[in-house]
Amino acid sequence: MGGVQPLWNDVDAHLAATLLPADPVLEHILATSAEAGLPAIQVSPLQGRLLQLLVRLCGARSILEVGTLGGYSTTWLARGLAPGGRVVTLENDPHHAEVARANLAAAGLTDVVEVRLGAALETLPQLEAPFDLVFVDADKQSGPDYLRWALRLTVPGSVVVVDNVVRGGAVVDAASTDPNIVGVRRLLDMVATEPRLDATALQTVGAKGYDGFLLALVVDPD
Ligand code: SAH
Ligand code: DHB
Ligand code: MG
Repeated sequence: MGGVQPLWNDVDAHLAATLLPADPVLEHILATSAEAGLPAIQVSPLQGRLLQLLVRLCGARSILEVGTLGGYSTTWLARGLAPGGRVVTLENDPHHAEVARANLAAAGLTDVVEVRLGAALETLPQLEAPFDLVFVDADKQSGPDYLRWALRLTVPGSVVVVDNVVRGGAVVDAASTDPNIVGVRRLLDMVATEPRLDATALQTVGAKGYDGFLLALVVDPD
């Protein structure tokens, strides 16, 4: 895998330079997040663009994000909304939430995005459903819990996206005791047996290494 990472980086950079316009606000968010010491684990620019396109493709007007970090993916999601749309994003770390709030203000999104500070499993029960799109991207061991909440907080036609479902390929390791891997594997098993979800997963390579997204449509159970 190590041998191809430089090529993945080059291709990611080429695709981003070719397809994505320069964006000072998004670059500012990356810079302030790095300066504030946040881990550089936000979605890549091309992945952010995918999130924005998914929001537009499904015409989402209300979005829930679990795991804000510095507000980078939040900004991509919010920018896909039609006027009047809203994002609620959940973040457990006060420092991350503070950086995100400043970044979202710099992006002109203060009135569009609400950052809720607290452990997601404590803030999720307070939310007003339904959401048209849910992006799950917080701690991986709680993935199954977040999926259960996503199902409670959505309706048929809603879209659920889960980041980091491949984890460098570790997802295939049935013997893994890593709570992150166990969490991802349980989440996938739940999706497989859930009649209210039609789902797929896509492996991704690029600046973020080797990982993947789960994409699911909430449907009427039959
Ligand atoms: N979605 C972001 C990246 C999120 S990184 C982006 O792509 O830009 C994961 C975030 O989830 C971190 O900021 C971490 O602090 C937060 N997190 C971890 N456990 C959490 C929990 N229990 N509740 C809410 N947020 C949590
Ligand atoms: C990690 C978390 C993420 O959400 C991600 O996209 C990549 C890595 C992590 O916790 O290591
Ligand atoms: Mg992620």
